[in-house]
Amino acid sequence: MPSRDLPTRYGAVAQTFHWLIAALIVTQFTLAYLADDLPLGVHKLALLARHKSFGMTVLMLAILRLLWRLKNPPPSLPAGMTPLERSLARATHIAFYVLLFAMPLTGWLMSSAKNYSVSWFGVFTWPNLIAKNESAFNLLRSTHHLLSYALFAIAVLHVLAALKHHFWDKDPVLLRMLPFVKLDEAKLDAAKSEKRL
Ligand code: HEM
Ligand code: HEM
Repeated sequence: MPSRDLPTRYGAVAQTFHWLIAALIVTQFTLAYLADDLPLGVHKLALLARHKSFGMTVLMLAILRLLWRLKNPPPSLPAGMTPLERSLARATHIAFYVLLFAMPLTGWLMSSAKNYSVSWFGVFTWPNLIAKNESAFNLLRSTHHLLSYALFAIAVLHVLAALKHHFWDKDPVLLRMLPFVKLDEAKLDAAKSEKRL
């Protein structure tokens, strides 16, 4: 499979970014909710340290992914999609990119405001972004919390949309984001359409 995106399918690099970040997001929710159930102690702090390291990894990958996307336009959307569906797809993807930055940044700022160090798997420590400030901590904590609900809701919508494309519309939108799938020419032709935004 080519590393760059084609007019009809995502390339290997975009797919790798997509699935790696998707797996990390699932990991982030799992670690956060496991930690949430624990009393303050070594075990909880260890889970949160892991959460912070994976979260900062998401930030680094999101920067690389956005740079790659700016140089590599994604494939066109299928011709059969309505203007509303196109706008929804675009809005969802923009919201994802915003949240892939906003979640780690609010987490990092929140930890800085409490003067809790943010290490990257014990390899190095990220600098504090702001000075210790209890009211900033509370605000950032609520923002991180609120944004996680938005991310969760958008992810549910996104997965339902991907399944609708595959099982209802029977177009190649899901298949072209999957590695190791050979798309047949008829489906690729059907997917050729006006340039996406
Ligand atoms: C994509 C990245 C991230 C996602 C999806 C994410 C998601 C979450 C979620 C769902 C929670 C639980 C919220 C709740 O208490 O109900 C949480 C809590 C937390 N996150 Fe993140 N997070 C991310 C990145 C980060 C980063 C980079 C840091 C710090 C550097 C961080 C620090 C924290 C901390 C300290 C808590 C516990 C807050 C508390 O005391 O309740 N997060 N995160
Ligand atoms: C929470 C985890 C996920 C995140 C953050 C995420 C994020 C994204 C983003 C930002 C795009 C746009 C890619 C671009 O053009 O730059 C995208 C595309 C896509 N995602 Fe996800 N995704 C997630 C999970 C999933 C899952 C679980 C599925 C499958 C059920 C999926 C299926 C797709 C498909 C098929 C596309 C291509 C859509 C198109 O061609 O317009 N994603 N995803």
